[in-house]
Amino acid sequence: MNKIRKAVIPAAGLGTRFLPATKAIPKEMIPIVDIPMIQHIVEEAVRAGIDDIVLVTARHKEPIENHFDYNYELDDILEKKGKKDLLDVSKAVGGMCNLIAIRQKHPLGLGHAVLCAESAVGNEPFAVLLGDDLIDSEVPCTKQLVDIYEKENASVVGVMEVPASEVSKYGIVGGMMLGPRLMEVDRLVEKPASKDAPSRFAIPGRYVLSPSIFKCLRETKPGKGGEIQLTDALQLLAGRERLLAYQFEGVRYDTGDRLGFIDATLAYALKRPELADGVRAVMRKHLGS
Ligand code: G1P
Repeated sequence: MNKIRKAVIPAAGLGTRFLPATKAIPKEMIPIVDIPMIQHIVEEAVRAGIDDIVLVTARHKEPIENHFDYNYELDDILEKKGKKDLLDVSKAVGGMCNLIAIRQKHPLGLGHAVLCAESAVGNEPFAVLLGDDLIDSEVPCTKQLVDIYEKENASVVGVMEVPASEVSKYGIVGGMMLGPRLMEVDRLVEKPASKDAPSRFAIPGRYVLSPSIFKCLRETKPGKGGEIQLTDALQLLAGRERLLAYQFEGVRYDTGDRLGFIDATLAYALKRPELADGVRAVMRKHLGS
């Protein structure tokens, strides 16, 4: 079967880069404007035709599960007060997806987190979306990758070109260009020094993978940082099956970084018709122009 029905979203991290905000709430619940980051990510998967979201979580992540459930008390109050618009907003999130939560009981890395999702995914291809990467595009990035998977019947990672000074922040792919945006991948390196990078094409957290990745993950030894790296498992996969990289269309924000988070907040606020003029006015005020 070729249809992508499930998405794995690793969400077990402590979010230390956002302390103190993340001391008592999951970093995934921090909003970009008024929508939690995790909802932006789930919406991208849902817009790609995916209904089942496999959330790989840890302790203290329950607010994420509550967010995607109905809140009867809130909905009842909104209904009685006649606040239909807000009631619709609340209910839409509750009905957005089927959420399957699985615990990653030890922090052994991204590859290990994806492996934790195996029993929920089963023997079918699936998407992986990382929560620190927000990608703004007309066709959701995951949908672009799903279309490639379904056409080519091969695993595919989303890539973007980065400056040489930034390759050490990402998983980097190398291989042969098949077309203007498509590459057949034969090398992957997790966070290489710029002199060791096979290219400047970086993976910003979007993947559509064949279930063979699970076997590769089980065989992957700890790599960079002593963690089981998804990038290393993909290198194994590339030796066994076709692996593609697609230079997706869209703008990517690194919301795991404070400046990237502010960048995303401004960009998303300016896209909201009811906020755009007000945001421009406060920006002018702060910039003194
Ligand atoms: C992870 C992956 C890396 C990928 C990056 C995208 O690293 O290991 O391959 O390029 O996400 O954000 P992290 O940023 O979690 O250290």
